[in-house]
Amino acid sequence: MGLLNAWDFQIPIGGIRFFGFNLFLVNQPAAVRRLMVEQVEQFPKHPFTLWVLQPLIGRAIFSVNGTEWERQRRLVDQAFQVAQLQRVFPQMEAATHDLIARLDPLADGRTVGIDAEMTLVAADVIVRTILSRPLAGPEAAVIFEDFSRYQRRAGQAVMLRLLRLPQSLLNRYLATHARRIRVWIRQAIEARLSGSAPGQAASSQDLLQALLEARDPLTGSSFSLEELVDQVCFLFLAGHETSASALAMAVYLLSQVPEAQGRLRQEVTAALAGQNGPLGFEALRQLPYGAALFNETLRLYPPVSFFMREAQLTTNLLDQRCPVGSLLTISPWVIQRHEQHWSDPNSFRPERFLADQASTEERRMAREAFLPFGLGPRKCPGAAFALQEALLVLAELVRRYEILPDPGHSPELVARLTLRSVNGVRVKLRRL
Ligand code: HEM
Repeated sequence: MGLLNAWDFQIPIGGIRFFGFNLFLVNQPAAVRRLMVEQVEQFPKHPFTLWVLQPLIGRAIFSVNGTEWERQRRLVDQAFQVAQLQRVFPQMEAATHDLIARLDPLADGRTVGIDAEMTLVAADVIVRTILSRPLAGPEAAVIFEDFSRYQRRAGQAVMLRLLRLPQSLLNRYLATHARRIRVWIRQAIEARLSGSAPGQAASSQDLLQALLEARDPLTGSSFSLEELVDQVCFLFLAGHETSASALAMAVYLLSQVPEAQGRLRQEVTAALAGQNGPLGFEALRQLPYGAALFNETLRLYPPVSFFMREAQLTTNLLDQRCPVGSLLTISPWVIQRHEQHWSDPNSFRPERFLADQASTEERRMAREAFLPFGLGPRKCPGAAFALQEALLVLAELVRRYEILPDPGHSPELVARLTLRSVNGVRVKLRRL
């Protein structure tokens, strides 16, 4: 992100030539729609997306194109339909319950590294959802360490590739930290297939089962073991890195803006209607301010900050000529803070996303210049899952704790595979 300049947040499109690469930053909503919605085949995912992730996720849905992607998307959509939000809710509840048990002893006003806690709860949610079992302490530590090293290296690898370092060298550099994660996931899948997995009885409803049973309506084919390892590795990555990034920044914002925190707490109290127990599936649907607050967090801190596409033909985008093979970057980070799209773009104002408080212009921008989950046929199928998880975690936090700033701390953000803070995200928690 250090490569971005102030004018990037003002221009509709920009282009440079860099070590023989034609690089473009596309900000104008109509041009973005052309790339991501109207002419998807002419602007597929850039080959960088595949190679930078291949050591970790193989040829999973996220980075492949064409008919290979179409088949995978049909199977994944089917699996998501089976593993619906209501069905995965108990798994989210259980992971949130464990989060609160970890935080309670720390909620005496001391500083808490909330990014690590949000990473653990998001990973626990996704492991429980996919495999019907929790993510235990020492195992989690090893996996997180590998993920975070992979993330760091992936960010560096893209930059080094732009400087023309050979792909094979960079692949070897990336593969080290992917290996252990893949072995761990392969063993979990093989244990399930052989019937020896712990919690086997509870697993008939989980996402792995739904992926195993998914059949392509066009060809009747299902995922092979190799493909399943790829998909589960990706779902694990997609399901925890993104949510962890968004949740950490949402908690940080709550610590900085007490009025927003108070308003969310009030809304949660009303949804609980005097009940003491956990916040249920239906109660969660009565948090419009919570949903707006999460959207505003995703606007300011989009976990996936850059998408890369490749021009398959020489074409004109606005006033720019893009030669075939150009790398087209679409950045939610830039578009969602763009001065021509948003009024007061850098301030935190959840009301922009509240149906009865947003101006006509804000409602239009929420449709045209808000893309944290992508756009078009490749849009994230996990968006509703992520919202449900985020509302549950945030609601259970604000009903118990006052979230206070850690004086002098401000996150230093870097765009790796997801948006992360190099110096952590810290807040203080005080039991109410
Ligand atoms: C706040 C949380 C999340 C954010 C911000 C997010 C964002 C995104 C974005 C931007 C894309 C598309 C990127 C592109 O077009 O280049 C994507 C794709 C995807 N996401 Fe998410 N995601 C989140 C959570 C999840 C969760 C929880 C899951 C699964 C449980 C998930 C599964 C997927 C899958 C399978 C794809 C690939 C879709 C395809 O290529 O057809 N995501 N996500």
